[in-house]
Amino acid sequence: MRVLGIETSCDETAAAVICENRGLMAHQLYSQCALHEEYGGVVPELASRDHVRKLGPLIRQVMDSARLSLATDIDAVAYTAGPGLMGALMVGSGMGRSLAWALGKPAVAVHHMEAHLLAPLLEDVAPGYPYVALLVSGGHTLLVEVRAVAHYTLLGESIDDAVGEAFDKVAQMLGLGYPGGPRIQQLALQGSPDRFVFPRPMTDRPNLDFSFSGLKTHVLNTLRGLQGVDERTRADVARAFEDAVVDTLYIKSARAVRRTGARTLVVAGGVGANRKLRRRLTGKLGAQDVDVIFPAPEYCTDNAAMVAQLGLIRLQNGASEPLQIRVRPRWSLDEI
Ligand code: KG4
Ligand code: ZN
Repeated sequence: MRVLGIETSCDETAAAVICENRGLMAHQLYSQCALHEEYGGVVPELASRDHVRKLGPLIRQVMDSARLSLATDIDAVAYTAGPGLMGALMVGSGMGRSLAWALGKPAVAVHHMEAHLLAPLLEDVAPGYPYVALLVSGGHTLLVEVRAVAHYTLLGESIDDAVGEAFDKVAQMLGLGYPGGPRIQQLALQGSPDRFVFPRPMTDRPNLDFSFSGLKTHVLNTLRGLQGVDERTRADVARAFEDAVVDTLYIKSARAVRRTGARTLVVAGGVGANRKLRRRLTGKLGAQDVDVIFPAPEYCTDNAAMVAQLGLIRLQNGASEPLQIRVRPRWSLDEI
């Protein structure tokens, strides 16, 4: 069985083909990052319009690079139906469902976060169950226990801003542009670890939820309280912010692993690319006899390979969708 996967939940247009026997055959991605840069974040309407422009040609490219024909070689279509931006989801879901109908094949509506959770299975080093996944991106901050496919427990999530969003907003305050994460990481290298110390939000509470809105405001107030902000100060602020975020993610992840008894932590999402976070998690959690896995960058951030894979798994378990197209911008993992 070969499944075409489509992903358009936010600002990445992506398509992929996976084969039951041969694994991933092709995957392609077009990032809208440059389109949103001048606004400092994703503009939903621009995202939808660009998905409309890019998705058709991208599907063609994927089929070409897999040397397959859409008309004869595809057995099903999987698409991300949520959570995400309503208009953006509509583009991929409309295309995916209609394409499946035109081909006379089944369609599967996939949960974006579930696809992230299972992304490590795309690689040879699949984690053993149960594992804990830390999903940290511009749209999500979650800790989830994965006991098996379709057996998930949401351990904690952000009650306000996603952690990547906080990186992006603080980067804007520092005049660094978008996306903020890599730029803060770079500037923080020159920053002092002692000049500012920012709070580690909610680490004094036993739960596994996160909150980054207060930290963001703390940074803003710090900048406002200063007499002029020179290059040195910007680096010191970037350093203090990154340290606070990394520390917070580390504390909650370690707690999640201890609480569930999991032997593996999987870190996914764009913020998982952060070098300090990687060092911190690998060093300390590793000492607790916990394997820390970072999926390859192309499977870690938004992509369609994970969507095609989850579609295949769901089809193997007998799933298929009615003709109706239904997207769910808000869709909790607990509802799976
Ligand atoms: O998963 P992702 O590529 O896309 C979505 O959120 O949809 O994540 C993007 C987020 C952005 O907020 C970006 O600033 C953040 O990941 N990011 C980073 C780093 N690289 C990307 N944050 C911290 N450090 C990084 N090196
Ligand atoms: Zn995502």
